[in-house]
Amino acid sequence: MVFIGIPILLTLCLYIQKSACDVDPNLTVENANAFIAENKDTINQTYRLKYHAMAPIGWINDPNGFIFFQDEYHLFYQYNPYNAYPNKIHWGHMKSKDLIHWEDLPVALAPDQDYDSDGVFSGSAIVKDGKLYAMYTGNSGDRQVQCIAVSEDGISFQKIDQNPVLDANSLPSNAKPQDFRDPKVFQRGDLYYVVTVSKTVDETGQVLLYQSTDLINWEFKSILLEGTKEQGIMWECPDLFELDGKDVLLLSIIQIARSGNDYSNIDSVVEFIGEMNWDEGKFAVESIKELDHGMDLYATQTATDDKGRRIVTAWMNMWGRTYPTADLGDGWVGAMILPRELHIEDGFLVQSPVSEIASFYEQVAEYTNVTLTDQTSRFHLVSGEVGEMELQANLENTNTFTIELRANDDEKTILSYDTESSELTLDRTNSGISITGNENPQVFARKVLAPLNDNRLKLQVFLDQSSVEVFVNDGRESLTANIYPTKVPSDSIRFTAEGTALIERLTFSNINLD
Ligand code: FRU
Repeated sequence: MVFIGIPILLTLCLYIQKSACDVDPNLTVENANAFIAENKDTINQTYRLKYHAMAPIGWINDPNGFIFFQDEYHLFYQYNPYNAYPNKIHWGHMKSKDLIHWEDLPVALAPDQDYDSDGVFSGSAIVKDGKLYAMYTGNSGDRQVQCIAVSEDGISFQKIDQNPVLDANSLPSNAKPQDFRDPKVFQRGDLYYVVTVSKTVDETGQVLLYQSTDLINWEFKSILLEGTKEQGIMWECPDLFELDGKDVLLLSIIQIARSGNDYSNIDSVVEFIGEMNWDEGKFAVESIKELDHGMDLYATQTATDDKGRRIVTAWMNMWGRTYPTADLGDGWVGAMILPRELHIEDGFLVQSPVSEIASFYEQVAEYTNVTLTDQTSRFHLVSGEVGEMELQANLENTNTFTIELRANDDEKTILSYDTESSELTLDRTNSGISITGNENPQVFARKVLAPLNDNRLKLQVFLDQSSVEVFVNDGRESLTANIYPTKVPSDSIRFTAEGTALIERLTFSNINLD
């Protein structure tokens, strides 16, 4: 007995020691908060955004745990406070009353356990019995597992002893335990559900559905949806919700198959609209479309609020590209999009910036019924580095209509509409510091098919210090991208019509949160 017991005990000790070694004892919530307090004033402000959610210092990626809790919006995020690169991922935390002003809160979760020592990866939050439950992916070595942390006050979290609550044993046989992540938890009737993603052994994406009565003990329900080879090698950040009588599944997809000269994003957020069969746990897809056609929107997450709105936020950035603010040594990378309200209209998902932003507009210019014929024009006070521009133009007699934004003598970001192809292009080739990546280094433009309504093009453009977000035809399409103009100011806006364009209405508003 003694002789059998000792080797087992030794192996166990070695195992415990190894696991303990994997956990870096310096990576605690306390150390992260102390580091942020000491260093946040050292970052370079040049490209910091004026009205978008950002971390005080360091690297951020996905929004996590987005929730309306105790009358405020809480937003957690993938966070490395220590430098501007994606490692040692913690959960940062901020809150807001209006989705526009964000208040930094202490870091919520650190990679301090053997099961999450390589990163507290993405996840979501839900309220149960007045407490906030965060469900996240623990990343360690070559495994990913799902874990729970609970908070009474919404600020300090305790990881539960039962972690992980979902591990390799919870996976269907076609799934790889190395790529099993991003739980989005929700309630339906008396049951809790979670959707997660996993890579299959065939290198495709799939969404898994689990159910629970207590958020701790989970039971595998189904493979909710399986991807094809064309639909990427891995799916991330699933979100499943009902909206205006339809079911919507949002996924962030890695390596969508693109043919020949299709230079659309390879990694992108894709919206699946369809019908959920809850008895079988299957999602019947009716339509598939990209959510945003710019270069820098990924890892969406939605929340509902007390007004019954379904609001989406996302990382306003992308994997596999260069990050100028890191390269410049500015000490930070990453921000979230302006939150958008979602609806289904005529079978399409439409996005509009949350109405709260409008209370910060200071409208400085309004023009109506101006005709441009084969000319380039600027409009007095329609200029700015930070602001909101609305345009309604009749393009019945126009070949191309072009707007140069954030322009100076050398640089510009171009929005261009071609009436023959009905395509709107966002081009950042000459925006400033060039952003290169693994997609197609020669092509710095993205386009979207956006047919005119009654010959009209409607645009709403949000400019911030290093971003542009374009909403097309009342939110039917959007294009989001980071830009890094190098001259100060880079605030000119120029309009060019080939043929005749009638600008029916044009406004420019400054956005000032002070
Ligand atoms: C998406 C993602 C998630 C993962 C997290 C890691 O951007 O890759 O799948 O949980 O980022 O930071």
